[in-house]
Amino acid sequence: MKRLIVLSALFLAASTGFALADADVGRSEYTVACAGCHGESGLGDGPFAGLLNIAVPGLTGLTQANDGEFPFLKTLMIVDGRTGIRGHGGPMPIWGDRYEASAVEQGDVYGAELIVRGRLLSLVEYLETIQQ
Ligand code: HEC
Repeated sequence: MKRLIVLSALFLAASTGFALADADVGRSEYTVACAGCHGESGLGDGPFAGLLNIAVPGLTGLTQANDGEFPFLKTLMIVDGRTGIRGHGGPMPIWGDRYEASAVEQGDVYGAELIVRGRLLSLVEYLETIQQ
């Protein structure tokens, strides 16, 4: 019984550890790949925003614009970009392709799609946390 309790405690600690790591992955991914245009806090005011000839939207009002519910799948597809659903078809990079290319480059041809999904999911989970 004692062993079971110890094991469950360990398991709990490990799973909360993973959850934390996930949020961190999404945030650092965002800082590297998105903040340049969409801004550090997602207000659409990154250093590159002024260089584009098209307005960069803020990303903190996605929930508000969708009747109070975070549009998880739609956002995932926009960021992925491989499904044809784009913001407005402008200069936004197709992240699905980029992440896939970098996974393949690192030699992980078979796991590439899983890596792409993982990175996109942590990104969109992070976006959900910055909704206002
Ligand atoms: C080169 C600048 C640039 C970068 C980098 C960039 N975006 Fe965008 N993003 C845009 C622009 C411009 C739009 C609006 C027009 C379009 O979709 O092309 C947009 C639109 C969006 C939209 C749709 C917003 C809406 O209101 O419909 C989402 C979601 C989004 N970007 C998320 C991201 C995420 C997540 C990243 C990082 C992985 C990222 N963007 C990186 C420029 C950028």
